[in-house]
Order: sequence, then structure tokens, then C-alpha cells
Amino acid sequence: MRGLEAVLRERVASLSLERKVRLLTGADFWSLYPEPAIGLRRLVVSDGPAGVRGERWDERDPSANVPSPTALAASWDETRVERIGRLLAAEARGKGVDVLLAPTVNLHRSPYGGRHFECFSEDPLLTARIGAAYVRGLQAGGVGACVKHFVANDSETDRLTVDVRVDERALRERYLAAFEPIVRHAGVWAVMAAYNAVNGTTATEHPMLAEVLKDEWGFDGVVMSDWYAARSTEPAANAGLDLVMPGPGGPWGDRLVAAVRGGRVPEAAVDDKVLRLLRLAARVGALDGVDPAVPPAAPWPDEQVAAELRESAAAGFVLVRNAEVDGAPALPLDRPGLGRVAVLGPNAGVARTLGGGSATVFPPYVVSPLQGLRAALGPGVRVDHARGVRNSDRLPVAPLALLHRPDGGGEGVEVRFLAADGTVRGRELRTGAAFTWLSGFGPELPMAEVAAVEVHTRVRAPANGTWRLGASGLGILRLTVGDQVAFDTDTELPEGADPVEAMMRPPQQSVPVELRAGEEVPVALCYRPKGTGGFGEAEPAVVSFQLNLARQDSDADELERAVALAAAADAAVVVVGTTEEVESEGFDRDSLALPGRQDELVRRVAAVNPRTVVVVNSGAPVLLGWADAVAAVLVAWFPGQEFGTALAEVLCGDREPGGRLPTVWPAAEHGHLPSTWPAGGRLVYEESIHVGNCAYDRAGTEPAFYFGHGLGYTTWDYLDLTAPPQIEPDGDAVVTVRVRNTGTRPGREVVQVYASRPDSAVQRPTRWLAGFAAATAGPGQEVTVEIAVAARTLAHWDVGAHAWAVEPGGYRLTAGRSYADQRLTAWSAVRT
Ligand code: BGC
Repeated sequence: MRGLEAVLRERVASLSLERKVRLLTGADFWSLYPEPAIGLRRLVVSDGPAGVRGERWDERDPSANVPSPTALAASWDETRVERIGRLLAAEARGKGVDVLLAPTVNLHRSPYGGRHFECFSEDPLLTARIGAAYVRGLQAGGVGACVKHFVANDSETDRLTVDVRVDERALRERYLAAFEPIVRHAGVWAVMAAYNAVNGTTATEHPMLAEVLKDEWGFDGVVMSDWYAARSTEPAANAGLDLVMPGPGGPWGDRLVAAVRGGRVPEAAVDDKVLRLLRLAARVGALDGVDPAVPPAAPWPDEQVAAELRESAAAGFVLVRNAEVDGAPALPLDRPGLGRVAVLGPNAGVARTLGGGSATVFPPYVVSPLQGLRAALGPGVRVDHARGVRNSDRLPVAPLALLHRPDGGGEGVEVRFLAADGTVRGRELRTGAAFTWLSGFGPELPMAEVAAVEVHTRVRAPANGTWRLGASGLGILRLTVGDQVAFDTDTELPEGADPVEAMMRPPQQSVPVELRAGEEVPVALCYRPKGTGGFGEAEPAVVSFQLNLARQDSDADELERAVALAAAADAAVVVVGTTEEVESEGFDRDSLALPGRQDELVRRVAAVNPRTVVVVNSGAPVLLGWADAVAAVLVAWFPGQEFGTALAEVLCGDREPGGRLPTVWPAAEHGHLPSTWPAGGRLVYEESIHVGNCAYDRAGTEPAFYFGHGLGYTTWDYLDLTAPPQIEPDGDAVVTVRVRNTGTRPGREVVQVYASRPDSAVQRPTRWLAGFAAATAGPGQEVTVEIAVAARTLAHWDVGAHAWAVEPGGYRLTAGRSYADQRLTAWSAVRT
């Protein structure tokens, strides 16, 4: 039988140059061209990583919303993350998606990075291990992973153009190191080349694509551009980029055909790209006559999805503080002793389950902390709720429960697509008020045929009072309330803003409206692009706007109400956090503070209730200046749609919070943290390899919480560490660590091994993560875990030789509970 490669090569050879080149640019935003002549069907790609979005980006195509990557990494649990990958594969298959644009393995270089929540960790080893597990799970379900963004795309400011200047050691030991095992060992099927430049060359044209990724690491899959990141014909085609996304425009097509005919791009390069594409198609089962790499994933029953997401959310929760109140740790809550609980804070009622940008999906449902706690505590416990303060100055998307279709058909809105002469070209009945269309308004309605989109609904308020009604979007927004035009406005983005900003926090305008309980008020929002040509002129072809609505009330009154409820309660749970407008693709954060008056809310509540538990609902570090003043702090991240159920289980002690911080949490703004602001178009990674924990060591100061920190509900003794005296240069040392559960509950301990090299001839971090494994033990039980420490973890990149090198002599290996809490020491040398 002929081998697969021969079959693929034959199919490539049967195509004309034009037909081959056509395959190398997307057919539209999310799909690739089919080629029936060689049995190739249309391939579909989709974001990633917190769920599988599918081709539609709204409530009509809901997606299981898994914990965001910081939460997954916080579990330090590869088996769990691999299962999440399998779940995502099943989701992808259900939505006709072949390749998931995930995982994101850029590093937490700075907590200000807008996509921090979307990346795993500051540490390349943890990132690579969690990322590889994600890829293995996904690909075991027959769906391709596309690991991104290659490389040094660690912040958002000027992300489309910034030239990252990073020294060779930092590039190899940190930024490339996060990708390398995912390519070499997990065998990822696709890689996305980033927007930014690295040391003067834009990523889609970078020699690293061919020299490092393909030649050195043996990558045999497809390198696709980030969306609109391909900027040239010859340099990109010759550099090792295989696929330009999205399409159908872009710099290849006829220009690439001409470049090949003119001898400026070898046809063999085109053939190699098509071969890679067919290899990917074969793997995902998109090529006739070729068996997929594995049988396609089967759907998961809803209850199994919910159970997995609930457990995974809890497994990522990090208990960073758990002080004693009346002689016992504040958490878990003592359920029998609770008569009244105050559940407070802006994120208690409106849970943030994911961050903003391309990672956004529409979950089928979300369990808020308030709902989760109410259900878990049951009718015997009185649960009071107050928002306390706002976490955003912006109006939220109008809640569905307040919107009623004009045709009397229930909750929702009617959307009308209007041609330039005002005729209605199409309609949608929708159950949401956030709208995004990409490429077209449906298969039958191209963007170019639509000049305006109108939303019609009837607003029915549950209570008398003043409400704010508004609209957000970039373009012309006309809002009509009753028969009055409330505003007709032309909005602009701030200068230099990223296009994604127009989707995540678009300009917003609103007006106060007096509403009476139960009365219906007709509302219409008309959205038009600037200019006269309709939506067809826009490039990228993205239409995105919202209808907004919320009660107008003051933080001052709500804050007093929250404090009064806290004072009367046996325990106060305050859920604070950010929003997807603060943590998003497209822009970096300019502050690590919790938005609005949330710090004040926590301090005021803690002052009246000694049993104050703060739950932090953010995807990235925020400043917790009040941490010492409250009983407990639980970092919940953006934990996905089962947030509330998982939280209730953990607070009530049915499950322990399993997470350990995947990144250091700063105690103050700026300090020693690397900047995300380029100067003169360049962002210099001045800190080189010294990121995260070791930046604090070098500065001689302490962060709020170190990398690896997390408490759980039991306690552990570290008894014994053994390491082999010699490690083979290409091998793994098996280090063993014996621990004892000294508490009263069963638990899971993440045993962390760090390496250090006193008197090193090269600069090194104080110590760095060299391996980890989890120990599970009942009360009083002792267990021994084996932890593989690869010789490569001890090596450094020799910039003179452009190769890995190992210093002769001993390395100190320490085992402990976190970067700062090291309990045991042993020594090993690498055989040279
Ligand atoms: C993001 C990618 C994403 C792509 C498609 C880009 O703006 O950087 O991560 O996969 O859009 O949505």
C-alpha cells in the first residue's frame, strides 16, 4: 500500500499553480477553499481557547464555556486539561469546526498585558506542559490545535506593528521554550504566526518559521497568519508562512502566482505549503479516501459537560489567604452555623466567565455566584444580595428579560437589514442585544447589499424608575424611544485604537428614560457605517454593535445597602473583579486596580463582618491592598459557565480549591514589572530572562503572592527529597518527594521542584521551576511522588554557540509548596 505522504504529494502534483495558490488564502473569515478535484472539502477554523465559537458569533450558536487559560494553568493538572481538550474537540465536531485557534501560549511577561487571561503562565515549563495537554486532548478528538501567537506576542499595545526586541537567550529560554514541546512532543497540527515583529522582522516573514519551527523542531503542519498579519507576497511566501488568513483578499492570490512565474518564489515552496495543508486536512478527516488521524470525537451529554466544567473551575480556584476566625480557618464555611449570608459585589450577580476579544464565546447559560450559593445553601439560610458598587462606567448589554419582540412572540428583538433604498432585505429574530456579523449577514445576504441594520424591541421594566438606555458601536447610531429620537450620533474610536476595541468597548451613548413597571415602550436602534456605501466597504468586514440598558442608581446608596447587609450576616462573600471590557484582546490594562469603588466596598464590608470572604473574579492579577484585613481571599479567575456551582461547592467545603498561582501577583502598580508600552515602535524586553518572581528577587522586594502559592483545605509536611547524583545530558532525572497530609481532610498537593545554580558562569534566575507533580492523600497519609526533571531544564542557551549548553557541576534542586516556600534540598549534576 502506498504511504499517506505519497498520496498527498500526488494530489498536490495534480493541481495547476493557480489552483494550488488559491488554497493558500482563506475563502472567508473562518473557512478554507475546498478543492473537489483532489477530494478536499471545506475546512473550518474557529477561536478558542475558552470554548469553540463556531462560524456565528452570537447567542444563536452557544458554546460550552470552559475556564479561561489562567484558570486551567492554575490547576497544574495535565490530565484535567487534556480532558478539557477532548471536550473542546467534541464541541468543535458538533459545530463543524476542524481546527481550533488555540491554545495561546504567549507568556505572562507583564500583568498589564490585555490577553494575560488568555495565556497560561509566566513560566515556560508550566505553559508548555499545560499547553501540550490541551493540544493532546483536542487532537485526540480529531480536531487540530493551532498554537499561537508565534512569537513574543505578549502584550497588546500597537500589537499589529510593534517590533519586539528580545535577546537570544530570553527568546530561546522563555518565549520559544513555551512552544517547543508543543511542537516537538505534542505534535501540534498548526501554528499561528503573530502580528508583531521580532528583532526587526515581522513574524509572518520571520526566518524562525523555517529555521526554528520547521527545520529544527520538525514541525510538519500548517503555519497560518494571524488575522490580516500577512503583509507581503514574496517575503512571507519564502519565509515559511503557509496560509494567509482570513480571505478572500490578502497579499497572495494572483500576486503569488506571478511571483512563482517570475522565479521569485520557487514552485516547490508552494507545493510544500499545499502539502502541509493536505496533511492537516487528512488529519482532521477532510480529504476523501484518507482516514482521519483518529476517529472523530463523540458529543458529550450536557450533564457530563456541566460536571467537567464545575470540577475544572474548582480545580483552578486559588485560595491565597485563609485566616482563622474564632479559632478555625474562615474557609470552608461552617454550614450548620450559618443563618444569614450576604453575597455582595458587582460580580456576584453578573459573573464574568471569560475575557474579551476573539476568545469570547456565548455560553448556553451561566451560573452566577449568587445563584450558586443560593442553591447550595438552601432555604434554611437567608441569602441577601447587593451589588454594592459598579465595576464599570459603561452600560451593560440590555438584559434579555427586559426586551420583548414587537410581534408579541416573547423575549427578544427583531433585527432588520435594510438596503440603501430602505427596503428590508432580511430579518432575524434574536434573543440577545449584542450583535456581530463577519463576512456577511448570512449565506444569502452579502455585506455590500446592506446599508443599515435596525433593531426593534419593546422594553418592559420590572420596576418604576429611571433607567438608562443606550447604544454602542463604531459608526452612526440612532436610538428612538417611543416616537422620539433620543439621539442620532456619529461615534469615533480613540486615535490609534485597535480594531478589536470597536467590538469590546465601542463608543457608547445613552439617555435616561422613565419607565413604569410592566409598561412596554417601543425602542428602535438604527446602526449605519460611516460613509455612504453600506457595509460592503468595510475591511475587515465586521459589523458589531449593542443595545444597552440598566437601572440608573447611585453607588453611594448601593454601598450603604451592602454594608448594612454584611453587618447583619454571619458571613459576607464579596465577589469583586474585572470585566471583559478591562481584560481584552486589543488593548493592555493601564492599571491593576479593581475598577470602580470595589476596594472601598471590600474594606467597608470587612470592617463590619470579621468573616468576610473575598472572591476575585478576574483573569489576571489585580491589586488586593486589603487582603490582610479580610478573612479569606479566593482567586476564581474567569472560570467558565459553571462558576457559581463550583464556587458554592468550594466555599461550603464539598470540594477543595485546587489551584496554585501560575504567575506572581504584584503588590503594587508598576514597580519591577516590565512595561508593555513600546517606544518609537519598539518594545524592548529589557528584563531578558528575569521575569515574574525573579524580578522581585532582583529588586529585593516582595510581591503580594508568589508563583506556585495556593492553600487548599488541608496541610502538608515535606518529608524527604531524593535526586540522582547524575543526569544523562538528554535524559530525565526522576526526583522523588515524600509528603504527608497533616490535616483532617483528604487533599491534593502540587509538589513543585525548583532548580538553581549557585555561582553560575551565566546569569540565571534565583531559581526556576524544573518539574511538578500532584500528591493526593487522606488525613495522616504519606505519599511519594515522582517528578521528572529534564536535563534540558538545567541547560542554558549559549549565545556564542547558538546552541543549548549545560554547565558542568552540581545543580541544587529544592522541593516545596511555592516559589517562596521551599522545604527540601538535593543536588544533581548533568553528565558532561
Ligand atoms: C487574534 C487571534 C485570533 C484571530 C481570529 C486575531 O485578532 O489575535 O488570536 O485567532 O484574530 O479571530
